[in-house]
Amino acid sequence: MGPSAMALALSLATLAQAETEFVVGKVRVQALSPRLLRIEPQGPRGFEDRSTFTVQSREFQGVAMNKTSSGQGVWLNSSFYSVLVDSKVRVFTPQGQIFDSASEAGNLLHWPSPLKATSYALMDYPRFFVPDWGTVPIPEGAKVDPDLLATNGYDFRNNIRGDTYIFLLGQDLSAWSSARVEFLKLTGPCPLLPDFAYGTWFTYWHSYTEAEAKDDIEHWERLKLPIDVWALDMNWRNTSDNQDWYYDHPNTALFPNFTEWFEYLRARRLRTYFNDHPYPVASRNAGGLQTSPEETKFRWQGLSEWMAKGMTYWWFDHNWKFSIPPPFVNQSTTDGVWQGLDNAAWGSHIYYSAVEYYDRHVRDKAGDTFYGRPMTLTKFGKPDWKPGMDPQEAAEHPAQHRFPVWWTGDGVDLQASTESMVDAGLHGLKPFVHSDCGGDGRQSAGDLMRWTAHCVFGSILRFHGADHRPWSYDNHTLQVISSYLGMRYKMLPMLLSAGQKATKTGFPLVARGDFFWPEHPESASNQQYVFLEDILVAPIWNSGSNITSRQVWIPPGHWKDSWDGSITEGPKTVTATQPWERQPMWIRPGAMLVLTDEVPKRVEDVDWSRLTLEVYPAETRRQKVLHEPNGEETQLQMQLENGHFHLSIESKVARRWRLRVHLQPGQKMSQIFLGGRAVPAKSSAGSSLLSAPGTVVELELQGSTQHLKAVISSEETLIGLVI
Ligand SMILES: *[C@@H]1O[C@H](CO)[C@@H](O)[C@H](O)[C@H]1NC(C)=O
Ligand SMILES: *[C@@H]1O[C@H](CO)[C@@H](O)[C@H](O)[C@H]1NC(C)=O
Ligand SMILES: *[C@@H]1O[C@H](CO)[C@@H](O)[C@H](O)[C@H]1NC(C)=O
Ligand SMILES: *[C@@H]1O[C@H](CO)[C@@H](O)[C@H](O)[C@H]1NC(C)=O
Ligand SMILES: *[C@@H]1O[C@H](CO)[C@@H](O)[C@H](O)[C@H]1NC(C)=O
Ligand SMILES: *[C@@H]1O[C@H](CO)[C@@H](O)[C@H](O)[C@H]1NC(C)=O
Ligand SMILES: *[C@@H]1O[C@H](CO)[C@@H](O)[C@H](O)[C@H]1NC(C)=O
Repeated sequence: MGPSAMALALSLATLAQAETEFVVGKVRVQALSPRLLRIEPQGPRGFEDRSTFTVQSREFQGVAMNKTSSGQGVWLNSSFYSVLVDSKVRVFTPQGQIFDSASEAGNLLHWPSPLKATSYALMDYPRFFVPDWGTVPIPEGAKVDPDLLATNGYDFRNNIRGDTYIFLLGQDLSAWSSARVEFLKLTGPCPLLPDFAYGTWFTYWHSYTEAEAKDDIEHWERLKLPIDVWALDMNWRNTSDNQDWYYDHPNTALFPNFTEWFEYLRARRLRTYFNDHPYPVASRNAGGLQTSPEETKFRWQGLSEWMAKGMTYWWFDHNWKFSIPPPFVNQSTTDGVWQGLDNAAWGSHIYYSAVEYYDRHVRDKAGDTFYGRPMTLTKFGKPDWKPGMDPQEAAEHPAQHRFPVWWTGDGVDLQASTESMVDAGLHGLKPFVHSDCGGDGRQSAGDLMRWTAHCVFGSILRFHGADHRPWSYDNHTLQVISSYLGMRYKMLPMLLSAGQKATKTGFPLVARGDFFWPEHPESASNQQYVFLEDILVAPIWNSGSNITSRQVWIPPGHWKDSWDGSITEGPKTVTATQPWERQPMWIRPGAMLVLTDEVPKRVEDVDWSRLTLEVYPAETRRQKVLHEPNGEETQLQMQLENGHFHLSIESKVARRWRLRVHLQPGQKMSQIFLGGRAVPAKSSAGSSLLSAPGTVVELELQGSTQHLKAVISSEETLIGLVI
């Protein structure tokens, strides 16, 4: 470098300003975090600092960038990435170029698979501001720009293409997971569900009379089938002569007194909802488009009046000959799209915010906790999933992950149910995508058993479609379904904790294998999954005859067949053959299953003072968090190293634990110390969740924090010790 070049370099360095954001011409660059930056073209009304439908918070610490001008353009450099702004904007990391504004980022969420991309760019478009009350009419006393009265306080005026968020996904699983946490910080989490949502839901497309409905509910009670939600499809309203465009035409021939019906359900501690096929007011020329005063008033009045009568939440049933469109679109068919925002995502927003607003402003104020946290049943991905579909086709507006829970549509079969549930948790950050359990039509008892097993070991367990009443086939089918439902309710402590984790980190309840083993290409199959981090599930959808087979990829380690207890060492692909009654499942080496002792009748009946902990020691360190009902976190940790077994339960909550240590064939457990004191243990067998046989050492622990040490030896190591 010559002296003049050196002087230039020096002056450039001294002139460099370090800031976390810069405006260069009509572009603003914000370095939000080491993994996240924003490239924003100036909108019609300037740069956007308010929240938008997509973005809930930009409160990130920021990273310093240095601005220097060169012949190429303006460089904005940070320690993590460099941005070059000239006629376009390019972003570089030490690994190379990761973004060029000349090829626009997509505006529908499709998070990349682990280790398949080094970055992910997502455009906030259409971009608009959402008022605190959403599509509920402007509350009295709220301050609203007079220009926004016509759109209920929504501000669509600063919309522009190109407001792009770029996530750096790093080189490993942990960086990829951290980028997902950044996504949730930016766009808001999938909210916590009400606890009862993890229980059984039942609906049936049938013209129930109130007497029939009550008779069915008495069956659930008498047969001791655990259930939390019993609801109605279309038949709550009179649908003839377009009366289903309105909310005030209930079908009083079938249900003469809905007040009484809601009271009946509440007395049985059942939550309930109605289906709604909404018809836009504009299409009957009775007002403006979405967000107009007429549409918002009409919708809110209809939805809130039924909640006031005692309905828990709504089902936004997107699949019908008519539906509401997104903003600016004047149509009543169910395929409305505005700039990529489709009516499934927009409708989900309306229904979720209506329930949320009602809960916050009416039920919470009244101190009524029966209804729990807000939720709606809404639509996932506009096309109903078909087997083998490209998950990219189900990409949706990124706000949609805040409006749980999502149903996949009509005619979705068991294969499609599995694929959509698995892929949505990864690509869509939606942990509660699920299908009508049992399928549209009534098939064989074997089909219902297969479906039930998948839904029980799945995101949301919601029977719907034709007649899927568990007792409607024969006693054997009833008994099999009853036993699966019992498993679902025994897993509630884990289900509730997994929901907390999904909200915090985007880690789904149903995880595709590459959440754990991305280095194995087989792990990325959407036809099998790991449930609650510990149970490998491979539903069989070929139900034509009783005993059928499928291929399953067993991940690395020693996995225990949940039915016959045999051990398969992965990684390898095996053929699983099972009868209708048994869904192929394996227990992870190192699994820690937190279960209720008994099957509760309702989710709220879980007895937290006594729990069962089933552990499967393996040479791997495991940890899990149990979310206690009081908000405390109990940490579970387990390790087996050279025969030394350690288990700790760090907890502020005192309870009785039934600890069951599952040993591998030929293993024995000795020298057991609990909190430093030697304790005897009794031998037991089997599993309290699944029927796998095996040797189990059982101990009773009483209190809060627990530390257990023991020696686990196999026959071979024992012989080694003797010599
Ligand atoms: C900014 O980063 C680019 C790309 O890494 C590099 O070529 C350039 O020299 C950097 N500028 C400064 C002033 O460090
Ligand atoms: C920014 O400039 C400052 C002072 O010139 C320098 O210390 C720092 O290393 C630079 N940062 C980057 C990321 O280039
Ligand atoms: C439904 O509405 C039609 C009129 O369109 C009426 O004839 C019928 O009686 C109504 N049914 C009930 C159950 O109210
Ligand atoms: C409907 O049921 C409620 C609650 O049981 C009762 O108070 C009310 O009188 C009933 N209404 C009619 C019209 O029968
Ligand atoms: C929407 O379309 C309907 C016809 O389907 C028409 O009657 C109405 O005036 C239109 N409304 C608006 C706001 O454009
Ligand atoms: C089913 O079991 C119940 C009680 O165990 C019995 O009363 C009933 O007869 C059985 N039904 C059939 C169809 O076997
Ligand atoms: C299916 O086959 C299994 C295993 O042979 C048997 O136990 C079960 O009863 C059969 N199920 C039905 C519904 O026939």
